[in-house]
Amino acid sequence: MTQATRKILVTNALPYANGPIHIGHMLGYIQADIWVRFQKLRGNECHYVCADDAHGTPIMLKAKQLGMQPEQMIEQMNQAHQADFANFHVAFDHYHSTHSPENRELAELIYTRLREKGHIKTSVIEQLYDPQQKMFLPDRFVKGECPKCGAEDQYGDNCDVCGATYAPTDLKNPKSAVSGATPELRESEHYFFDLPAFSDMLKAWTRSGSLQDEMANKLNEWFESGLQQWDISRDAPYFGFEIPDAPGKYFYVWLDAPIGYMSSFKNYCAVTGNADFASYWKQDSDAELYHFIGKDIIYFHSLFWPAMLKGADFRQPTNVWAHGFITVNGTKMSKSKGTFIMARTYLDHLDPDYLRYYFAAKLTSRIDDLDLNLTDFAQRVNADLVGKVVNIASRCAGFISKKFDGKLAAQISDTSLLDEFQAAGDSIASAYEKREFSKAMRDIMALADKANFYIAEKEPWQLIKDPAKASEVQEICSIGINLFRLLMIYLTPVVPALASRVQEFLNDSFTWDSHKVVLKDHGIAPFKALLQRIEMDKVNAMIDDSKEQNAVAAKPASGNDELQQDPLSPEISFDDFAKVDLRVAQIVNAEHVEGADKLLKLTLDLGGETRQVFAGIKAAYDPASLIGQHTVMVANLAPRKMRFGLSEGMVLAAGPGGDELYIMNPHDGARAGMRVK
Ligand code: MSP
Ligand code: ZN
Repeated sequence: MTQATRKILVTNALPYANGPIHIGHMLGYIQADIWVRFQKLRGNECHYVCADDAHGTPIMLKAKQLGMQPEQMIEQMNQAHQADFANFHVAFDHYHSTHSPENRELAELIYTRLREKGHIKTSVIEQLYDPQQKMFLPDRFVKGECPKCGAEDQYGDNCDVCGATYAPTDLKNPKSAVSGATPELRESEHYFFDLPAFSDMLKAWTRSGSLQDEMANKLNEWFESGLQQWDISRDAPYFGFEIPDAPGKYFYVWLDAPIGYMSSFKNYCAVTGNADFASYWKQDSDAELYHFIGKDIIYFHSLFWPAMLKGADFRQPTNVWAHGFITVNGTKMSKSKGTFIMARTYLDHLDPDYLRYYFAAKLTSRIDDLDLNLTDFAQRVNADLVGKVVNIASRCAGFISKKFDGKLAAQISDTSLLDEFQAAGDSIASAYEKREFSKAMRDIMALADKANFYIAEKEPWQLIKDPAKASEVQEICSIGINLFRLLMIYLTPVVPALASRVQEFLNDSFTWDSHKVVLKDHGIAPFKALLQRIEMDKVNAMIDDSKEQNAVAAKPASGNDELQQDPLSPEISFDDFAKVDLRVAQIVNAEHVEGADKLLKLTLDLGGETRQVFAGIKAAYDPASLIGQHTVMVANLAPRKMRFGLSEGMVLAAGPGGDELYIMNPHDGARAGMRVK
């Protein structure tokens, strides 16, 4: 049966050009790369493009901080990103930048078409403005006191402490995070894209049944709360593209970012001639278009992007596939714990195929988060790839090269296992196709177990002692090598570097269909170690390196600037202080709170009385590590109703926030309930 080749364009979210790639990012790029490699191995025409997302306020400010022009910084970052991806064997067919002539041209084209059809509106809005820096401030660049709970030092969009969401203009005592100046309200005309005009089309897409369930649910929630006009303009100074006929107004970074998918592909078509741009992007295109993204950017990809394409007479994506977030050892990646691991740091210590396999072994088509447990990582890779798969070859290859001149048997009479391995190809392929990589890996490892069992049962190392049984040994080992070969064909999309060493060893070149043949009377190269085991030492060295990098990065330029960043409060009387009842408390339970990004729910024992406290320390602590510890709490604070329940007090913690928070811990001997004075 011949199958017509499909035409497929795959993208992964474009990384921001203001920082290096970390292993959290790598999940999506590797997931898409495995899928693309699978399609190519099958013989489909498949192109995988990406680019750096180079625009926006954070990038402009980062360049300023580094004393560089943004163009210079994004160029350096682009090189670094490409090197990281290449070394992780993420094989983009093309890597471009959103700060490119193609992207400007396409952004202008799409915008102009939308405007001509009446999908762009303007209106004057009020926004916080930094009079010192002479710029409007994005939500994340305003800090102040939470309008709900009064917590200090909160961002302009939501409160880390109580979880409230609000507008930056609601903050009390707002300060510009860029200059420290007090922002003022200013009016400015903004351009809006009329998203609600596309709600019928978006609803139909949601109902089509092709979307991931979790994504369809999210879309339905958004439809219920009503689609809003989307603000697509930003005022100068801004690093981006100026809007045609609107001097001083720039496209918001998220307008031209997804257009970067098109412009990268356009540049690729122009440079290589490998595909025809228009045939992939025209309205009735027969090509498939898939966007792999992380769960945090679903809104942009499932609402704005298809609507923009529709409004500008381009085809819509065939699908948008979201994945979850990486946690390390059960919690959010943490700089202080050394689990905020840069791609480069990983590569300094470990083989990328290890991580690719581990991700594949845990990835499904759903949007669940994926935990990289480092002990499990080492054990799993060693047990599966080294202990099961490569082991088959190392048990058989020696006999073939030493006793049979490197030749596999010309005849194989017992084909039952080989038949079974070949027959498994279709269901493994269908698991890859559906992005059920963990199922594919499970099936492959179950076959590997059978191959090992077969060899153990046949004991070629015993048979070889009897010269009369030589050809039997050759057949057993040839079966073993062929079983190994089939498994490696199936694993090729996941562990490409290992697969290429194996192809060299087998004098073979894999396509997916190679699994339909068995090698007979075929010369193979002498066996060399194909894959090292992961040593825990190397994993630990990687963690130490990551901690060290963080310590260097976090160190203030000169001396200690904690007080400068956060000056002392006005003096208070002793009586004022005495009003605060501080007590030693024992943490008897700590758990995650469903739906809360920043909070842990703590149950505190005050020596007889227990209190429930929601603390904004999720990024800094693994709840399990807190249970049993003593800490200090404010015990007479009025209880506060929060979205997740009643919070009856506060635990004391130092630090700026995020994963840099340190809770108080009394010396040994302090007991729950003791007053701190
Ligand atoms: N620039 C935007 C995307 C624009 S696409 C038109 C962006 N960049 S990013 O650098 O923040 O993220 C790039 C990708 O990495 C996104 O898909 C994001 O979801 C993903 N991840 C970032 N951190 C991650 C984890 N910790 N875990 C898994 N994926 C993560 O968003
Ligand atoms: Zn608050």
